[in-house]
Amino acid sequence: MSTFQAPKGTYDLLPPRSASFLAVREAISAPLRNSGYGYVETPGFENVELFSRGVGESTDIVSKEMYTLTTKGGDELALRPEGTASVLRAALQGNLHKLGGLPVKLWYSGSYYRYERAQKGRYRHFSQVGAEAIGAEDPALDAELIILADQAYRSLGLRNFRILLNSLGDKECRPVYREALQDFLRGLDLDEDTVRRAEINPLRVLDDKRDDVQKQLVGAPMLRDYLCDACKAYHEEVRALITAAGVAFEDDEKLVRGLDYYTRTTFEFVHDGLGSQSAVGGGGRYDGLSEMIGGPALPSVGWALGVDRTVLALEAEGVTLDIPAATSVFAVALGEEARRVLFATVTELRRAGVAADFSFGGKGLKGAMKDANRSGARFTVVAGERDLAEGVVQLKDMESGEQTPVAVADVVETVRAKLA
Ligand code: HAM
Repeated sequence: MSTFQAPKGTYDLLPPRSASFLAVREAISAPLRNSGYGYVETPGFENVELFSRGVGESTDIVSKEMYTLTTKGGDELALRPEGTASVLRAALQGNLHKLGGLPVKLWYSGSYYRYERAQKGRYRHFSQVGAEAIGAEDPALDAELIILADQAYRSLGLRNFRILLNSLGDKECRPVYREALQDFLRGLDLDEDTVRRAEINPLRVLDDKRDDVQKQLVGAPMLRDYLCDACKAYHEEVRALITAAGVAFEDDEKLVRGLDYYTRTTFEFVHDGLGSQSAVGGGGRYDGLSEMIGGPALPSVGWALGVDRTVLALEAEGVTLDIPAATSVFAVALGEEARRVLFATVTELRRAGVAADFSFGGKGLKGAMKDANRSGARFTVVAGERDLAEGVVQLKDMESGEQTPVAVADVVETVRAKLA
């Protein structure tokens, strides 16, 4: 194994592709920042218990995919596999639910870790941008989040995504359904693992991707027929609000999601150009999570969009983001005196807010102009001894090729005017 090899299931973000990741994070968070969500940042690790209680012992995430460690002091920690439990914990610890009005609306962006079978779109280290609205049971809040995620994707130019929507019921109606489903599953011919899953987490069986299992599931009781009146009314209101906003969605009764905390509204954003890892984002309501981790009743809803898969989805659609060149002006200095003068000019440009870079390493004209081209700068400022003797530099417009002498003292103003 090479020393330069990143661990399995991970990859580095390097220029120029890394710029797309930054742009995606920015685009996903922009609608949130514009809608009353405040920024929250939590540690990369938490006590294991937070996730085993919050996400659920029976989920793959907790039982198979968590990176856990025991510290020298004996603390049992886990690298965070998701953000919801952490953000809720932080809100409770910081008493945000007592400070002002509810809901407390928070957004976050960061790294998450799951020990998954690595493949394209599925990594052991990945990044999410997420949003959580804590402490209100209001269908408009569920609708708001779905609409904002849709807006974020559209602002990136993504088109071939679909929104799958479902309701998982609440603590009144879901247990009744769960039992009915279990009765049905017990009558099927399933392998040992699936039988076990049917006992621990029967709804997950509906999600089984295998054809022979899906065939047997025809005629299984559907949650929709078991939803209590309150859940039905809530779901209808969410659907109506999203529809009124012009956001298209598909009802997907089999959407169960891989985390145990969900109640009522659940949704997933899927992209058809990604193969098996088609979920670019997902979320839902988690009315019982706060109590599960020892807090007061705080009905909440949220989502997380995967940055890695969103970038893959953009690439699959051939969308190129409009990322402005990092550098507007590139300075090429020929000779010691010119180096000193142009280095000072570059500093001045930067202080004036103009993105500027310098030809480092004492290169000749040819090599330095190559660097200027590579930088994507709109203007090059070139100066040699003869120019300086006349008190000027040559300002070259890299688009038109036009070159004009400009007095050293006027470079910043001239460039600013041309860029404006
Ligand atoms: P999740 O569905 O587990 O939900 O993850 C959300 C998104 O993170 C996925 O749709 C996917 O884009 C990305 N993702 C998850 N695992 C990986 C992986 N191994 N490699 C690459 N991308 C991945 C949650 O995490 C919930 N906390 C969402 C939520 C927030 N629910 C309520 N509030």
